[in-house]
Amino acid sequence: MLVLGIESSCDETGIALYDTQKGLLSHALHSQIEMHAEYGGVVPELASRDHIRRALPLIQHVLDQSGAELKNVDGIAYTQGPGLSGALLVGTSIAEALAFTLDIPTVGVHHLEGHLLAPLLEQNPPAFPFVALLVSGGHTQLMRVSGIGDYELLGDTLDDAAGEAFDKTAKLLGLSYPGGPAVSSLAAQGKNGRFKLPRPLLNSGDLNFSFSGLKTAVLTLANENGGQHLDQQTKADIAYEFQEAVTEVLTTKCMAALRDTGLDNLIVSGGVGANQRLRERLNQATKRRLCHVHYPRLEFCTDNGAMIAFAGAMRMQNIQAGDHAFTVKPRWDLAELQKP
Ligand code: KG4
Ligand code: ZN
Repeated sequence: MLVLGIESSCDETGIALYDTQKGLLSHALHSQIEMHAEYGGVVPELASRDHIRRALPLIQHVLDQSGAELKNVDGIAYTQGPGLSGALLVGTSIAEALAFTLDIPTVGVHHLEGHLLAPLLEQNPPAFPFVALLVSGGHTQLMRVSGIGDYELLGDTLDDAAGEAFDKTAKLLGLSYPGGPAVSSLAAQGKNGRFKLPRPLLNSGDLNFSFSGLKTAVLTLANENGGQHLDQQTKADIAYEFQEAVTEVLTTKCMAALRDTGLDNLIVSGGVGANQRLRERLNQATKRRLCHVHYPRLEFCTDNGAMIAFAGAMRMQNIQAGDHAFTVKPRWDLAELQKP
């Protein structure tokens, strides 16, 4: 079965073709980061207009890359939510209109389920059940994953997500959007031991997270060391310690989740999963405990079409072509998902 995947929930247009026999055939992405950078964040109206401009040429591109034709596509998976409603409507409309003309089924994919399953696109994916750490811009969750749509929440953030903390810290340090990669490359020039930030909920005895206090602690540290006039080395030292604090908490809680569930495979997904320091810590910790950790390739940590094509393919087996009426779900709790 050949599935076309369309992602348009925020600021990247991602398109991919996934074959249930042969795996991922081709994928392409257009990022709007540069377009939004001058505004310091995503401008929803501009995002929607850009998705309109990019989607069809990108679909043609992945078809050309794979040697397939539109008529070979057996089903279309698109991000139905959560996300920006105008942006979601672009991908959804294109998916449903194409499926209508081709008389093939569609499946509306939950964006977070796409992220969650992205590590399974790689070589030697783990078998169910496993523990998943989902660390994106809006979520920091630990889950026990027993199958597609069978997700038990083990821990969640009580306030900010880890990615959000990276983004807010970047803003405080005067770095560019998006904050995660900017903080992480600045941290590479930082020194260990100059500053000490808290490790929120490290020993709370549960699997929950809290990152908003850390952001306040960064603000206090910045104010005490020059405020608006922080020198470059001080910024780097703060970024270093901030990254240490976040990655230590995430790693400790992942290991606790493996211990509590008795499982020995961990998958990590979402934008913060691209963080090299987090990967280094998780690699060391899982090795010590004779467990395994699985990541998506770097480009599939952040938004992409491949994860949507894959999650859609996993859900599409029993779906018939429908009436192609559609709606988007800008707010959509992962806990509402059912098994296919
Ligand atoms: O999963 P994602 O693309 O978006 C959501 O669906 O939320 O994740 C984006 C988040 C942003 O907060 C971004 O700053 C963060 O992931 N991020 C990183 C890195 N790359 C992206 N955070 C830390 N280190 C990185 N290398
Ligand atoms: Zn995402």
